[in-house]
Amino acid sequence: MTTEIDIIRPDDWHLHLRDGAMLKAVAPVSAALYGRAIVMPNLVPPVRTLEDLRAYRSRVQAALPGDTRFRPLMTLYLTETTDPAAITEGAASGELTAVKLYPAGATTNSDAGVKDFSRVHEVLEAMQKAGVPLLVHGEVTDPAIDIFDREAVFIERVLAPLRKDFPALRIVMEHITTEEGASFVGEGDENLAATITPQHLIINRTDIFKGGIRPHLYCLPIAKRENHRQALRKAATSGSPKFFLGTDSAPHLVSLKECACGCAGIFNAPVAIPYVAQVFDEEGALDKLEGFVSRNGPAFYRLPVNEDRIRLRREAPDPAIFRSVDAGEDGSVVVFRPDRPLEWSVVSD
Ligand code: NCD
Ligand code: ZN
Repeated sequence: MTTEIDIIRPDDWHLHLRDGAMLKAVAPVSAALYGRAIVMPNLVPPVRTLEDLRAYRSRVQAALPGDTRFRPLMTLYLTETTDPAAITEGAASGELTAVKLYPAGATTNSDAGVKDFSRVHEVLEAMQKAGVPLLVHGEVTDPAIDIFDREAVFIERVLAPLRKDFPALRIVMEHITTEEGASFVGEGDENLAATITPQHLIINRTDIFKGGIRPHLYCLPIAKRENHRQALRKAATSGSPKFFLGTDSAPHLVSLKECACGCAGIFNAPVAIPYVAQVFDEEGALDKLEGFVSRNGPAFYRLPVNEDRIRLRREAPDPAIFRSVDAGEDGSVVVFRPDRPLEWSVVSD
């Protein structure tokens, strides 16, 4: 029975680092383990221009330990006024790794997102030409659509038509949560991939209400029924290069989670890799773990894999791993802790 595994250092292909005191608190946590991360642009105000992107990258770098090997990969937030020339310039200089599409109002800080897709055609054309991936938050915002159906309806109404209009555009469907998402991506060509989060591999929607309402298990897209969790576990452990880890670690102050209208977002940065290892162990697929966390992402993004390795062991971690992270005078951030013991640890990083 495997109790220890050595893998290429992982990357996180979907991460929220925020800004200010929160950025200083959480950036070192991800930098301690990952080689690189795709840094989400949904700040307030969002990262909309190359100037915004350069300024944010400097703030991220300033929040990292001096000797870090961690590399933030920066993204732009797509709006109806994004300049196609910024795509071409950012791609050519290597400063821009991807562009994020939030349908307006779909999730935290998405108000500046896209309402009318016909207005972003030129930008998408520039991305298609330059090979810049479009990262999609795949939920419709139509209030008539039930929250549990928003991903499936998005595929039908937005993603499938988008793929027809821009067949060579490289698209990552971020944090898929449904059977429909897994099969749409699984059946697509090499220009389509998906990230999967640890939480969607571990919890289903019933867990959010177990014994009472659990704000720290609430994120968007919301966890779905058990059959969807099973479909995601199958996709992640399948060995298909189209699926890779994007933790969607999304810190919010405890005061903004535990209140009458709590924010969506789960902070999992300290525990994501050990929990994912545990999932792969449970599925009898530890041999596929390195692909999911360290190889498939770089292959899609056309980047080399990281050069060094980490070691994981089947043993309970120091419980301090779950200690809330202090985010300055405004409060702290609670770490993802589903109702299952964690049985894996990172023993060398
Ligand atoms: C994210 C956040 O807090 O920025 N929240 C979340 O629930 N995942 C936004 C996002 O990725 O949808
Ligand atoms: Zn996110």
